[in-house]
Amino acid sequence: MTIGIIPAITTAAYIIAALLFILSLAGLSKHETSRSGLTYGIVGMGIALIATIALALDDMSALADKWLPITLLFAAMAIGAAIGFWRAKIVEMTGMPELIALLHSFVGIAAVLIGWNGALRGFHGDAGPGDLRTLTNVHEAEIAIGIFIGAVTFTGSIVANLKLSGRMKSSPLMLPGKNFINIGALLVFAVLTVLYVSTDGHSGAKPWILLAAITVIALLLGWHLVASIGGGDMPVVVSMLNSYSGWAAAASGFLLGNDLLIVTGALVGSSGAYLSYIMCKAMNRSFLSVIAGGFGIEAGPAADTDYGEHREIQADAVAELLSGAKSVVITPGYGMAVAQAQYPVADLTSKLRAKGVDVRFGIHPVAGRLPGHMNVLLAEAKVPYDIVLEMDEINDDFPDTDVVLVIGANDTVNPAAAEDPSSPIAGMPVLEVWNAKDVVVFKRSMAAGYAGVQNPLFFRDNTQMLFGDAKDRVEDIIAALGH
Ligand code: TAP
Repeated sequence: MTIGIIPAITTAAYIIAALLFILSLAGLSKHETSRSGLTYGIVGMGIALIATIALALDDMSALADKWLPITLLFAAMAIGAAIGFWRAKIVEMTGMPELIALLHSFVGIAAVLIGWNGALRGFHGDAGPGDLRTLTNVHEAEIAIGIFIGAVTFTGSIVANLKLSGRMKSSPLMLPGKNFINIGALLVFAVLTVLYVSTDGHSGAKPWILLAAITVIALLLGWHLVASIGGGDMPVVVSMLNSYSGWAAAASGFLLGNDLLIVTGALVGSSGAYLSYIMCKAMNRSFLSVIAGGFGIEAGPAADTDYGEHREIQADAVAELLSGAKSVVITPGYGMAVAQAQYPVADLTSKLRAKGVDVRFGIHPVAGRLPGHMNVLLAEAKVPYDIVLEMDEINDDFPDTDVVLVIGANDTVNPAAAEDPSSPIAGMPVLEVWNAKDVVVFKRSMAAGYAGVQNPLFFRDNTQMLFGDAKDRVEDIIAALGH
């Protein structure tokens, strides 16, 4: 059997693209090499796209009327590319996680459509006895599994998008017997898949009813899994859905017989799973409990405890406090991103350092709304890397710190996580800022953070609140510090 020139070149191109994707992941794992990592990924994807289009055109060359499919192919690509380019250009950094969640939902729905397409193309029960029948069974199992993973990813990602964009409550949905619902759905899926694979012939409605039932159950399960997870655990959910979308793509790769899609899907699936694992460890959460939709997390209600009165401070008094300090730690959070306060924060840092104050940053692993969100903002504002420390590197230094500036952070500095076992964020490691001599919290109101939990830090004796937009307040402090 001879292989045509286009398929042969495509196979070589796929291998090169797969290698570039591996190099891309390696590059993205470090700050210094992340730009080259991104370039490898873009070049790999470009090669993959050109090779796949060339293969599709080669396949179509046998068609009598090939213009309609070719026009449809390019029209779909042009529309998709235009929308993608436009969205990526206008998205704010703070809107990135919800956009990513939405993109995961596209991978999910694509896997569902590819699965249904595979079934509709008539593979079901086509083959004769023996080996061919076994192969057909494998193919049918791929269809059912691909549709299942895709549908879970689809609705799960939509719920994640709604929660992250604030259009759905971030508190966990606590249906009675939620763990049984999840396990029950998995069992029903397994039974339906066995029935689907063992149904002979594609006449009659039975296989279609089974496939429709699998799709509906998976759609409901995806919705329930993510709805059951509380706000504080959303970072893990986003990386978990990233992983699911990879497995959905790999399942589609099997169905389409596309090796590169299998490899790429497996890379995304396993790296997403590993990222979820690292994040779970950083947040002291059980990996299994989070991927199973909050299994075993019996979060208490957001506390309405009366913590007493808070104290307010003005910008000029903060400037005075900072002038008299030897060591200052800044712990930024989501509010710094909203206010785009990183530039004045960088100015304030260099001003204080010029006065001989030791200024460092303490970064919580899930501060903001994206892994590494704060690091990216601070790097953008040219804050030197060596004064930006991870939570574990700085937590022991708070007792020797004069002033902590909590700029738009809330959940990541909440002492309830360390001290109140009934808190929904109990057990999550936090920046222990309350151990410093003075703490100034920059925010606009007394509102709760992303997890919807009140923060007792605001009512401590050594804490003062500086209300207003973080950027304006930092600029006021710079002005009060003078030249
Ligand atoms: P949050 O707990 O989200 O709190 C941010 C605070 O910033 C709010 O309390 C808000 O208070 C304040 N704020 C908002 N806009 C502001 C502005 N313009 N000026 C001043 N303050 C402003 O922040 P965090 O400590 O960074 O914690 C992150 C949370 O997000 C965690 O619960 C985490 O699990 C979750 N999460 C993280 C990720 C990743 S991967 N990082 C992804 C999804 C979810 P006011 O409204 O009173 O101003």
